Amino acid sequence: MPPTPRTRCSPARRALSSIAPTIDPIERRRAHATMLYRLSVSRESRRSTIPPFYVMDVWKAAAQRARSHGDVLVLAAGQPSTPAPVPVLRATKAAIDAELLGYTETFGILPLREAIAEHHRDTYGYPVDADDVVVTTGSSGAFTLIFLAAFDVGDTVVVARPGYPAYRNCLAALGCRVVELDCGAETRFQPTVAMLEALPQPPAGLVVASPANPTGTMIDPAELAAVARWCEAHGTLLISDEIYHGITYAGASAGTSSAWETSRESVVIGSVSKYFSMTGWRLGWMLAPSALRPALQRLASNMTVCPPAISQYAALHAFGAEAKTELDGHVQRYATNRRLLLEGLPELGITDLAPADGAFYAYADIGHLTDDSRKWCSEVLDHTGVALAPGVDFDTVSGHRKVRFSFAGATADIEDALVRLRHYLCD
Ligand SMILES: Cc1ncc(COP(=O)(O)O)c(C=O)c1O
Repeated sequence: MPPTPRTRCSPARRALSSIAPTIDPIERRRAHATMLYRLSVSRESRRSTIPPFYVMDVWKAAAQRARSHGDVLVLAAGQPSTPAPVPVLRATKAAIDAELLGYTETFGILPLREAIAEHHRDTYGYPVDADDVVVTTGSSGAFTLIFLAAFDVGDTVVVARPGYPAYRNCLAALGCRVVELDCGAETRFQPTVAMLEALPQPPAGLVVASPANPTGTMIDPAELAAVARWCEAHGTLLISDEIYHGITYAGASAGTSSAWETSRESVVIGSVSKYFSMTGWRLGWMLAPSALRPALQRLASNMTVCPPAISQYAALHAFGAEAKTELDGHVQRYATNRRLLLEGLPELGITDLAPADGAFYAYADIGHLTDDSRKWCSEVLDHTGVALAPGVDFDTVSGHRKVRFSFAGATADIEDALVRLRHYLCD
């Protein structure tokens, strides 16, 4: 929702008028400055009153329990339990000795942009070069940047529900009107052209994610192509979150496809966080249409100057064969974990699961157990030490009866979590 206009006299104005007009003009100016400073440090903007990430409450409680009991199994975090691949770690150590590690070009160092372009050419077969690539501070940085570059206050931007909450919350903070498409199991929790056609008018933007968080479901390539064509024809900017590419499973209904296979007017978002096992390195990228690059350059140079230099030099080595072998090994582990959960949860009576085509999440309906998923997750943590993510982060309507299990961790942890949940739910 866009921020509502201020109707009352602003606190700054009220405070300034309270300064006695009779005092010395220099003193009065100084008092003004002090007052404004105090107000600016104490006053929250309306745009900042977006919902928090509720899962952070679980993380906090899990950290407390880890200190008091030492038995926590974290299935709440959307991050691999493995470090960056060995060639990246090697290159990091070398970069510390060999590179200045000062500011870089705003869009990222050329060799990294070339490596990312090559990665897209090799994976999807479409033409792309270094100039198409904008390296950012995580994909989170890419989202804020493209939202600012492409949308104005009041613009309508469409997202899927359930979906990754930061799209909706950041767009709201920027004053956009967020419209959620209710995406159910019948469309694999993904938006379709039919849903877009049913909107009263074409939106300024659409965000899609495949594989998605929290469901792990994927868009059929033909549907993604149709969505991309619809967006191009209707002047809607398609933003395709492809950060879970590389993490898909045998038997997934659809293959992986990228929005740039159909439309170079769309924005493709990537990240080293998920497949590349580098969440904390805060490095992402986008393939951006040429018309938006001047705006992206102006905004990015002002907001962050450049993405972290050390991560850029390191990430250069994430795309080679040696790293890929290691990373594909992680995907095999996720596949084992996924099988364990998809077989084990129904045995606990949790049978309504989204089809996890990719990513590392199992999204379940637990409406038969609770209508308050935050409370339920907190009780599960208290009784079992298993930390789970409540659905309220991802779904503003039905999230109170949903829970997300992340299986990005160690297989032994998934096995142990299933045993503990069995005792809690079935004994
Ligand atoms: C769908 C999706 N997009 C974007 C992000 C942000 O990732 P990062 O900023 O680490 O690239 C996440 C993080 O969990 C996610 O699940």
